[in-house]
Amino acid sequence: MHRRWADEPCSRGDRPSRHRVRQPPLPVLNLAAGAPALQFVMPSIAENLERVRHQIANAAAKAGRSVNDVELVAISKTHQAEKVREAIEAGQSLFGESKVQEARAKIPDLPSNLRWHFVGHLQKNKIRHALPLFDLIHSVDSLALAQDINRIAEEEGLHPRVLIEVNVAGEGSKFGFQPEKLRAEMESLLGLSRLSILGLMCIPPIATEAEASRKYFVALREMRDRLQTDFHVDLAQLSMGMTQDFALAVEEGATLVRVGTAIFGERTRKTE
Ligand SMILES: Cc1ncc(COP(=O)(O)O)c(C=O)c1O
Repeated sequence: MHRRWADEPCSRGDRPSRHRVRQPPLPVLNLAAGAPALQFVMPSIAENLERVRHQIANAAAKAGRSVNDVELVAISKTHQAEKVREAIEAGQSLFGESKVQEARAKIPDLPSNLRWHFVGHLQKNKIRHALPLFDLIHSVDSLALAQDINRIAEEEGLHPRVLIEVNVAGEGSKFGFQPEKLRAEMESLLGLSRLSILGLMCIPPIATEAEASRKYFVALREMRDRLQTDFHVDLAQLSMGMTQDFALAVEEGATLVRVGTAIFGERTRKTE
């Protein structure tokens, strides 16, 4: 099944040039009145999902892992509920959002049997709204935020499941615990009785080559292994890998891959 998009820009090479020899006219297409003249075939969301799942399966097989140990979180941020419905029809039931306000508008419009993960920076004043919406918060990026979530969860009678976001490359522009800070604050995090800390998450630096992410995925996995041993905790979940590098993340041990563009297409800045 193919979906047709009419609003794709022409490539430069398609433009007529005044200096070129006149070409014979293109054959006239049999289009309905008012139909756009140029149409390009784009894969559907169902086809995109199939391709991504296939790539996950291949990467898991390459690493000798079971594909059942990897969950695909379809990141629907900025995409309308209609596109999420297409993904649901293709068998996807786990989605990720990064803005509480957007999620509050979108989630009630969709079937109630879906699971939603929060993957963005969680602002303190949004915690109370976020907790009942999301099954898992991937992005607890400071002790202060963890303490606020814990306090609000207590007030609301909830037990949130969370991952700790690690700033693996020490980028000044990124949220997340610096690795040494996480070690220093781990006891305090583990003391927050309302939180179930299930693992770690990272967003490596933007790079032109997917391979550049591998060392950060390895670093996150090794950090997880050390924390498990030193603090006697189970941190089974590793949330790592996005459109560009999710296959590498699976090879390096990801249990949750967060894929948006490869499923839904390019994002617009705001909700479409
Ligand atoms: C934390 C996080 N994970 C995953 C994604 C999905 O990224 P991509 O569209 O490259 O798959 C995004 C998108 O902004 C994100 O913010």
